[in-house]
Amino acid sequence: MKRVLVLGGSSFIGANLCAELRKGYVVYGTFHRNKVKVEGVPFLPLSLSSLEGVEGFVRRMSPKVIVNCISERDEAICAKNPDYAKFINAFLPGVIGGMASSLGFRFIQLSTSKVFSGDEGLYTEEDPVAPRSVYGVTKREGDDLLKIRENVFVLRLGTVFGFGPRGGQVLPDALKSFLSKKGKAYISDEWRSFVSVKDVVRAIKILIEAPEETEGLYHFGGAEKDTYYSFMNAVCEVFSFPSNLVAPIEGSDLKSFGWDSANRGKDLSLDPSLFAKVFHTPPKALRQMLDDVRKNLVIGNF
Ligand SMILES: NC(=O)c1ccc[n+]([C@@H]2O[C@H](COP(=O)([O-])OP(=O)(O)OC[C@H]3O[C@@H](n4cnc5c(N)ncnc54)[C@H](OP(=O)(O)O)[C@@H]3O)[C@@H](O)[C@H]2O)c1
Repeated sequence: MKRVLVLGGSSFIGANLCAELRKGYVVYGTFHRNKVKVEGVPFLPLSLSSLEGVEGFVRRMSPKVIVNCISERDEAICAKNPDYAKFINAFLPGVIGGMASSLGFRFIQLSTSKVFSGDEGLYTEEDPVAPRSVYGVTKREGDDLLKIRENVFVLRLGTVFGFGPRGGQVLPDALKSFLSKKGKAYISDEWRSFVSVKDVVRAIKILIEAPEETEGLYHFGGAEKDTYYSFMNAVCEVFSFPSNLVAPIEGSDLKSFGWDSANRGKDLSLDPSLFAKVFHTPPKALRQMLDDVRKNLVIGNF
């Protein structure tokens, strides 16, 4: 069985990936501050104090495939400490990409729609990038460093929803407040490609097994674009909550809460058609993905 190392196995996407891959692979995950438990998957501590340390770690583990879920996604932390953001979001994938080329393992890096400005929407892999935030800039730098490398896939994702090892995810938070009959306002004038974490895991599994000649950059998201408001309306429909629990709010109205819509981008939706064509995997409709989440919901299990 192939040995797969999930860097940042303790992340939202990484933990879901470890749980799925344990069925057909020898999987190892890493954690930094938050050790998670996934049966059958050893989790090893890895802190990014130096890139040499990471290089040594990767050499010792000698995996066939590395999936990198380590990232600093918090926009405020990235803005406050851009050098740290660059180290973790750009230099780390850059170094591992170099090792993938020289040592021959496959490297799968996760990136984001936030490398785009959001002025156009439905971005293809060919479209020019123009990030608005430090997070987006550093992720773009990571993507750029990997362009010249061999044995590399970069998978740019839309907004990922589902259940993870920790709180703070948009779907469980909303379900919790809807269950206690608390309504919420969601942005109704900014568009994103929502995609379930289980579908992201499915896409990563495809890349683990994909032929060498398909290596490169891909966009992955759902079949349509939505606002957080329309996403939450679909959540209410699929999970049978009254739609009046969800109210619209404009992005600009959140400025007083410290959220500047100028940094977020109006339409960050991704065109997933290249991935669909190359890997014969059409993107799913939002309601289908939400319905899959609902059917597989097991209390106490992400
Ligand atoms: N979630 C989304 O909606 C989304 C959308 C687009 C793209 N992506 C991309 O997908 C990837 C995974 O995202 P995610 O949301 O699953 O991540 P996440 O839940 O925010 O977790 C981040 C991971 O990075 C690790 N980490 C952070 N600082 C570290 C450090 N100094 N040393 C070692 N490890 C460190 C964390 O470890 P500990 O928790 O153990 O400290 C955790 O495993 C990222 O590359 C992100 O850019 C995510």
